[in-house]
Amino acid sequence: MEPPKPSWTEILFPPRASEYAELMDPLYWYIHGVVFFFTILIFAAIVFLGWRYRRRKGHQTSTAVHGSLPLEILWSVVPLLIVMTMFFWGARVFYFGRSPPADAMEILVTGKQWMWRIQHPNGRREINTLHLPLGEPVKLTMISEDVIHSFYIPAFRQKADVLPGKYTYLWFTPTREGVFHLFCAEYCGTQHSLMRGTVRVMKPEEYAAWLVGDDTTEMAATPAEAGKRLFTELGCATCHSGVRGAIGPSLENVYGHEVLLADGSRVMADDNYLRESILAPGAKIVAGYSNRMPTFAGVVNETQLSQLIAYVKSLSSASAPPAEAPAAPPPPPEAPAPAPAAPARPAGAAPIEG
Ligand code: CUA
Repeated sequence: MEPPKPSWTEILFPPRASEYAELMDPLYWYIHGVVFFFTILIFAAIVFLGWRYRRRKGHQTSTAVHGSLPLEILWSVVPLLIVMTMFFWGARVFYFGRSPPADAMEILVTGKQWMWRIQHPNGRREINTLHLPLGEPVKLTMISEDVIHSFYIPAFRQKADVLPGKYTYLWFTPTREGVFHLFCAEYCGTQHSLMRGTVRVMKPEEYAAWLVGDDTTEMAATPAEAGKRLFTELGCATCHSGVRGAIGPSLENVYGHEVLLADGSRVMADDNYLRESILAPGAKIVAGYSNRMPTFAGVVNETQLSQLIAYVKSLSSASAPPAEAPAAPPPPPEAPAPAPAAPARPAGAAPIEG
């Protein structure tokens, strides 16, 4: 597949290939239209007034002007109204771009000097290529193994930093088949400019066929399955057994729910909370437990961490942290029993943090 030929509106711009890009471009042109209009108006006024009031014999002085309240209100309020249209329109687009639908397909992205590693929900992996189904919402959960990178798909008008130590997210719905550029947009070392790849948007049935693949070497267990295996191998199941009196809290229905901590505060169990709890178990102790867990920093790599998190997610009926946490009764102080079935996720979108 060749990259699509740009239409005349896209001569200076990458193709528009996502729902977000369709929202972003009109806003971009609106802001630029306002800027061009006032730039031309001001330049024309400078030239015209400079000529009109040029120095001439017999008109050497002008009358002094000491301000005009109506004029000052006019040139304060009118620009305020104009920039507020940009603010509200921009905020709408921003929140849309930060609110993935709850049913978005999750793809894991790991940045590393100097490549992008990608893993699809069924376990298929690829490097520097991102295959996507047309018309389906996709959420990327991204992390770096070393320095700060930035995941950038110009045709989707989407870019987000990829950080060591913290998950960041992007979501989009591809609206156009084809091949598009993928860049690292943050200087990350000598080969930064080579840290690029392609995004291939395919018909959903083609994507489904690609996911299964004819090449079994790229196939692996799903992230959740790999995480489950790790969970056993690393001995996590010994303490997080889910039975009464276990050393560690049950992990069932934790993800996407609020957790009561020993200091009385509450925290939403999202990807970054789980990550911290694996790497720095003492940072946030669950109420009713003491910190007996060793750190797994240096024991598991980023890929394994996201697999462990995928496994914990698979133990929860909530697919993503809800936008507004449901009020949950505090668990009993000592050794809580496995949590009852979680309340249904509120419909709609969950906010992305970070
Ligand atoms: Cu990675 Cu620049």
